Amino acid sequence: MSVIKVAILGFGTVGEGFYRTIQSHSEELTAVLGRKVEVAAVLVKNKQKERNISKDVFITTEFTDILNLPQVDVVVEAIVDKDPTYSFLKQAIQRGCHIITANKEMFAHYGQELLELAKVHNVSVGYEATVAGGIPVIQTLRQLLNVNRVQQIHGILNGTSNFILTEMREKKLSFADALRAAQENGYAEADPTNDVEGFDAFYKAMILSRLAFGEDPNWHDVDRKGITSITSDLIDIALQFGLRFKHIASIKKKGNQLIASVKPVLVGKEHPLYHVEGVQNAVNIYSDIVGQITLQGPGAGMYPTASAVIEDLVYVCQNRRANQGFTSAIESCSIVEKSQEEETWLIKGLLNTLNEQPINVIDQVEEGIWIVKATSEEVAQLTKLNQELVCFPIIGEFESEHDLAKLVV
Ligand SMILES: NC(=O)c1ccc[n+]([C@@H]2O[C@H](COP(=O)([O-])OP(=O)(O)OC[C@H]3O[C@@H](n4cnc5c(N)ncnc54)[C@H](OP(=O)(O)O)[C@@H]3O)[C@@H](O)[C@H]2O)c1
Repeated sequence: MSVIKVAILGFGTVGEGFYRTIQSHSEELTAVLGRKVEVAAVLVKNKQKERNISKDVFITTEFTDILNLPQVDVVVEAIVDKDPTYSFLKQAIQRGCHIITANKEMFAHYGQELLELAKVHNVSVGYEATVAGGIPVIQTLRQLLNVNRVQQIHGILNGTSNFILTEMREKKLSFADALRAAQENGYAEADPTNDVEGFDAFYKAMILSRLAFGEDPNWHDVDRKGITSITSDLIDIALQFGLRFKHIASIKKKGNQLIASVKPVLVGKEHPLYHVEGVQNAVNIYSDIVGQITLQGPGAGMYPTASAVIEDLVYVCQNRRANQGFTSAIESCSIVEKSQEEETWLIKGLLNTLNEQPINVIDQVEEGIWIVKATSEEVAQLTKLNQELVCFPIIGEFESEHDLAKLVV
């Protein structure tokens, strides 16, 4: 029986999880691929570290050693940072290897180049683990929604932020205490900037956008905000309206324009993302034939991520290259445009100092806290006039408990 030889770049949480899963699921892999899978080599930074790797596996710190092996069919990349990773993967493709990556930052920057190069060299690219860990969102978009036109995606793509927001609400913790709890539980890095400032979710959103819409928006036009401005006070106000703060990546098409944001959003009880708590991730996809689909699951961790990588291994070994991304222009969609026209917002601040612009207030619990219907342009205008206003969009049904509809302040 011929053998599929794999090289693993990086032997941290993801690399080691993948290695262990190849051993624990070798029978299933052989059955589905008709060939045995063997790890030929592992690339690491520090060769002196103790690792649980079989003596038959070649361990190196030099990527050229991997390229010079007599047989490598698949290169699995689980390193950090975009460089030199991009250069490694380019060389692997040029050598005729299929590639799999878990590295969202690298893939958000260079994914398109790698996909194009892979086409030229007739190899496949797997990147399931770059978005939402163990949730098979890439494969769902790539394989199951070929004819559907995706119109909108909402995702909770960063488990650390979701954990912090959940802890703040449930345990009445401050942001700083909830962050500390995330660090103590191993959910947040010592430097949590990438997670709590929304960069991690931003990269994932750009990868999703390219797959679902055939392009990503101009990165500078994306409204990217983290969760550092969310206070216990704001969380309590939201609760009075039955709303929960979630850090949401949102991508939708308006006419020929892609609109994307990654920011704190208030979610109503009826929305599928309302109940996504702790380190869980979820992706809510709205497409024209099927309607709404929500995928939820573990967004990180050794085995959830290994699951994504091992399923990619099957995908690339079958050299399934169809539909690397939707390239057809998607017509504007009335549903998306309508929601874009008018959204529901929670606004904190003194609206009545800004009488120039009539705003449709639909609820108010106390002076200075409002629920309004407005377009994002109108809200942008309001915040320009009064920079102390704090505004959050609301997704999901919101039912007013007070009879203030159509009130104009
Ligand atoms: N952790 C998760 O749950 C998760 C989930 C989805 C995606 N990802 C992504 O997967 C990637 C890996 O994450 P991780 O958590 O496994 O990281 P990690 O635990 O920090 O491990 C990184 C590994 O890469 C090696 N490495 C770093 N720079 C290298 C270089 N220049 N050359 C060779 N080896 C190098 C390190 O070698 P040494 O061991 O010698 O230091 C280490 O083995 C990241 O891009 C991350 O964003 C992670």
